Amino acid sequence: MGINILIVGSGAREHALTWKALQSPLTDTVFCAPGNAATGAIAINTGLQATDVEGIVRFVKEREVGLTVLGPEVAVAAGLADRLSTAGRLVFGPTRAAGRIESSKVFAKSLMNRAGVPTPAYRVFDNPASAKDFVRGERRAFVVKADGLAKGKGTLVARDAEDTLECIDMLMLRRTVGAAADRIVVEEKIEGREVSLLALVDGERILPLAPACDYKRALDGDKGPNTGGMGGYSPVSFFGPEAVERAVASVLLPIVQGLRDEGTPYRGCLYAGLMVGPQDIQALEFNARFGDPEAQVVLPRLETDLITLLEATAGGDLAGLSASWTTRSSVGVVLASRGYPGTFTTGYPIEGLGTIERDVVVFHAGASADPSGYVTAGGRVLTLVALGDSMAEARDRAYRNVDRVRFQGMTYRRDLAQREVEAPALR
Ligand code: GLY
Repeated sequence: MGINILIVGSGAREHALTWKALQSPLTDTVFCAPGNAATGAIAINTGLQATDVEGIVRFVKEREVGLTVLGPEVAVAAGLADRLSTAGRLVFGPTRAAGRIESSKVFAKSLMNRAGVPTPAYRVFDNPASAKDFVRGERRAFVVKADGLAKGKGTLVARDAEDTLECIDMLMLRRTVGAAADRIVVEEKIEGREVSLLALVDGERILPLAPACDYKRALDGDKGPNTGGMGGYSPVSFFGPEAVERAVASVLLPIVQGLRDEGTPYRGCLYAGLMVGPQDIQALEFNARFGDPEAQVVLPRLETDLITLLEATAGGDLAGLSASWTTRSSVGVVLASRGYPGTFTTGYPIEGLGTIERDVVVFHAGASADPSGYVTAGGRVLTLVALGDSMAEARDRAYRNVDRVRFQGMTYRRDLAQREVEAPALR
C-alpha cells in the first residue's frame, strides 16, 4: 500500500503536482487543500484553506497523510511546515524562518551578501522620502521591491529615474501591496537573460531541477504590467548543464550553507531567479516553493518518480538520488481573463477542453465547475502545456491546442518560447 499525500494550494502549480503525484507507484490517495475543480476530478479536495494550519495538522493526523507538500508561499509564511514537523509529520516545504528567503526581500538580500552570492547592489528604505532622495541623487532607473509577500505584484522594474520615483510612490504612498511595502529594497537594474533554477534541498544537499524560463509581463514583447506569470518553457538553451553547475556552486550552495549555519536549515524546493550576463550569473530573488508556471513546464519533463524525490527531500536524505529528464521540450501557455492582472469578470463557460491532443495537458487555476462544465473563476484560468521533440514542435503543438480552447475574454501571450525557436543559444 502506498502513502497518502496532501498537496497544499489551489493553482495550476498544485494541479501539476497532484497530476504528477498520481503517476507515482508510491502514492495511495492524493488530497488537496483546498485544490480546485480539476484537482477534485482526479484527487480528493478537502475544503481546507492553505493557511488553515491547525485544520491541516488535524486532517493529516486523521487521514494518516504520509507526506504534505506545500505549494504557495502563504502556507510557508503561516508556519505550516513548522507545525507539521513538531507534530512528527513528514512535510515538503521550509519552515517559516527558512522561508524568509521569500517572505522578506531584505532578509534575502542580506543573506546573499553574508553568503557571498553575486547579486545586484541595493539599499533598504522604510520611508518614501529618503528612498526618493537617494534616487534623485543617482538619477537613473532602479528596481523597486516590496519587502514582504505581494502575490507577484511587489517587484517594479522602472524605466528611468522619474519612473523609479513613481514606483516608490505606488508601493509606499498609494500602498498598492499594503503593508508588504512598509520597507522596500531599491536595487541596481542589471542586464541579461532571466532564468528560473529550482532545486530540491534537503537541508544540506542540492538536487537541481531542469531550468525553465517564465514570462512575467502580461503582453507580447515583455510589455504591460507584471503578472503571476503568463507561461514558460523548459529546457533553456542558454542555460545548459555547465551553467547549472556554476549556479549551484556560486548561488544555491552558499545560500543553503548560510541558512544551515544560521540555524534555519532549508528543506523543500528552493527557487532561484537568476540573471545570466555575459560574465556572470547573479541572483535576483529566491522563492521558497515551486514556481508557477515553472512547475507546470518542468514536472511533465521529469522521468524520475516525484514522490521518491519529495519524500527524500522532506526526510533530509537526498544522498545518492538524481533526477532524469526527457530530452523533449515543454511549452506552457497561460490562458487568462481579459483585464488580468487588473480587474476582470468571470463565470464564462470554458469550451474545447475535450478536443485537446495527446501529449498536451491543461492545468487549472482560476476555473470552477458548474453543471455544464468548467467556467472561469479567476485571472489566470488555465496553463496549457505541450511536449515536443523540439522546442519548435512543443511550441506549435501548444498554440495549436490553445486554438481549440475558448472562453469569453480569453487572452494569452503569443510569443512564448519564440526566441528559443528563432535563435537558440549554442549549447
Ligand atoms: N514564476 C514566478 C513565481 O513563481 O513566483
